[in-house]
Amino acid sequence: MKKLSSSDADLHIAGEALKAGLLVAFPTETVYGLGGDGFNRYSLARIFEAKKRPRFDPLIIHIAEMDALDRVVHRDALPFSLREKTSVLSETLWPGPLTLVLPKRPEVPDLATSGLNTVAVRFPSHPVAQKVIAYSTCAVAAPSANPFGYLSPTRAEHIEELLGDEIDFIVDAGSTDIGIESTVLDLTQEPVRLLRPGGMPRERIEELIGKIEDLGNIREAPTGAPQAPGMLSSHYAPKTPLVLLTRDEMLRRVVSGKDAGPCVYLFFDGKTREESDVITDTVDRAIFTLSERGDCVEAAANLFDLLHRIDRLSKGVIYAQRAPERGLGTAINDRLSRASVRGTVQRGCI
Ligand code: TXA
Ligand code: MG
Repeated sequence: MKKLSSSDADLHIAGEALKAGLLVAFPTETVYGLGGDGFNRYSLARIFEAKKRPRFDPLIIHIAEMDALDRVVHRDALPFSLREKTSVLSETLWPGPLTLVLPKRPEVPDLATSGLNTVAVRFPSHPVAQKVIAYSTCAVAAPSANPFGYLSPTRAEHIEELLGDEIDFIVDAGSTDIGIESTVLDLTQEPVRLLRPGGMPRERIEELIGKIEDLGNIREAPTGAPQAPGMLSSHYAPKTPLVLLTRDEMLRRVVSGKDAGPCVYLFFDGKTREESDVITDTVDRAIFTLSERGDCVEAAANLFDLLHRIDRLSKGVIYAQRAPERGLGTAINDRLSRASVRGTVQRGCI
């Protein structure tokens, strides 16, 4: 693996590497992606191998200009109202942290979409991502650059540590801004469904196209394959077991001092931490706070980086406080609750 900077010369190298079928990790505004040419079956297969990702979990195709959308998506296959919603969302919220699931063109390899007749597309706003895509084939498949089931990377070092031997280049442009993956929306049927809460707040989407439906409780088929791909109940998980608590439960847990052995308290905000009586670290106990001022955007940006750091401490358990259920708080709670589910799917795949 070779590291590249965000200089224009290096981004050209990244683009050429993608064209040649190599794998390049690069930053987006959400998390780092593991990129490969979206139309090259060899690159796509290598992405699945590198991540140890099950083949039933399809990839997002990243574009860097609106015209590229119709190279991957068959918009005419949609009824009028969904075509309209697609236009409103893509024209208003792209580039940005929103992924749209739409009918796919037959030219998009089945490997990218796990054999579905739909394809997920995203136009990231990060200038480095845009250049890497524009200098390559303009349709780059890029899942988050983490081993399947583990925490997504928000810095180049996270990738180096976990996937360094599996990939060809990493473009290092520092920390990502949003820190949590894109919102995934299924626009192939009415009502429009939210498949994954993420960096684009649900409220912003509903302002534009009206009420959207939740996928509901995460359902998994007996094979471990989820009914909606990628919506595994256990995902985004640190190796350390995580227990998700409400604010009150967190305060009670701290006060009762029941922690048996080394543990980590991950507070959402500084105020709750101050109200508790564990304001200082001890040998057994480490304390972290997602956002001192209780801001969901700041908390999302810190979430994965803090979890990566906490995992390196190898404590017995993480007690994490829920975020408020609004804006990016919904996405934070989604990731924390998936991190807290310790099922066979995730354990078997790390
Ligand atoms: O922010 C992001 O979305 C990052 C950056 C790199 O762009 N990418 C990312 O990709 O999170 P990944 O592969 O880790 O997550 C993509 C999600 C998965 O849950 C996958 O199952 C879902 O999108 N997905 C992809 N194609 C789909 C499809 N055709 N139908 C339903 N869900 C799909
Ligand atoms: Mg991922």
